[in-house]
Amino acid sequence: MSAGFLPYGRQSIDEDDIAAVAAVLRGDWLTQGPAVEAFENALAARTGAAHAVACANGTAALHLACLALGLGPGNAVVVPSITFLATANAARYVGAEVAFADVDPDTGLMRPEDAAAAVARAQAAGWCVRALAPVHFAGQTADMAGLADVAASRGLALIEDACHAVGTQTQGADGTWAEVGACRHGGLAAFSFHPVKTIAAGEGGAVTTDDPALAERLRRFRNHGMVREPDRFTDQDLGFEPDGTARPWVYEMPEPGFNYRLTDIHSALALSQLGKLDRFAARRSRLMDLYAHRLDPLAPLVRPLARVAGCRPAWHLCVALVDFVAAGRSRGAVMAALRARGIGTQVHYVPVHRQPYYRDRYGALDLPGVEAYYARALTLPLFPAMADGDVGRVVDALAETLGIA
Ligand SMILES: Cc1ncc(COP(=O)(O)O)c(C=O)c1O
Repeated sequence: MSAGFLPYGRQSIDEDDIAAVAAVLRGDWLTQGPAVEAFENALAARTGAAHAVACANGTAALHLACLALGLGPGNAVVVPSITFLATANAARYVGAEVAFADVDPDTGLMRPEDAAAAVARAQAAGWCVRALAPVHFAGQTADMAGLADVAASRGLALIEDACHAVGTQTQGADGTWAEVGACRHGGLAAFSFHPVKTIAAGEGGAVTTDDPALAERLRRFRNHGMVREPDRFTDQDLGFEPDGTARPWVYEMPEPGFNYRLTDIHSALALSQLGKLDRFAARRSRLMDLYAHRLDPLAPLVRPLARVAGCRPAWHLCVALVDFVAAGRSRGAVMAALRARGIGTQVHYVPVHRQPYYRDRYGALDLPGVEAYYARALTLPLFPAMADGDVGRVVDALAETLGIA
């Protein structure tokens, strides 16, 4: 058991991760070099997607997904309100509106009926809904088959926010298992490799897809919108000598993009960490089983998130659902008391529709599942270097703080 402070999440970096980064620093390419492609190839192989496009962070990944789909003003994207700001903001970056959806109060996940209701509300507001952006919250997957049905019947694209769920597997209707990011219902999946996530790149992200046209657009928008292949040039005078020879220095920009590139330094770390994903996921799973066991006697005041059927999660977060009202304790007081005992906690998330920017833009929304989830959410420490005994330390301190010890 660790005697020191337990943050709610942290990276696990070994000497071989450090060596992988040092090798890049000693080499020729700090960015736009071979480590980026090596990481992309490994992520594509791991997820089973045809294409993986690495980028600067998970927010950039979501923005690139919106750009690749050609979303813009007048369009809307359905986003669950229990997520990080970035899922919604990515839609706003391209000028699209955000149709906030409710979630299951016991998992924090957007259900197909929540998505369908949000689509109906958005259409009533006169928006042209173009995409659903389910979030695989805490590492469990949204019901992608059900959401794909909602999307297909309305002609919508799918942007999976998989920032919490690298390494999670889901079971299809045919009984086979697939990795998150395989995009077996089409569309794109966005990942983050921020240090609190399951694998760390420092800052880092990626988008996976099976669609070659989307992959081409992702790569283009990641690098300023530049096209370097002469066979795709549209301006003869700009791109070619009078004899028809392509000018080797010329690039064309059909639409402006961004500098969302991932460096070789970050890619080397991400690749090294990807090799440990199974070990990290197994350790997180073991800690979550211990949490479930230790939290069981605290029910009904404290419960873990409900487990999703047909999902083998690579857990990112350990969210406990605490009935603070019944316990007669405020969440702030509980968090402060745990901090005083060396235990860091967080709340994932403040509902995004209640952020002043979105509240001013869309007014108050009635999302009862979101409110019921948010009232109880408390994220407890979860990271691979935690000792088994740390789980008992956290749960005992929580029980004591809630006055149920
Ligand atoms: C659900 C979700 N989406 C998107 C992001 C954005 O990822 P990043 O911090 O890498 O930009 C995060 C990370 O905090 C996240 O948790």
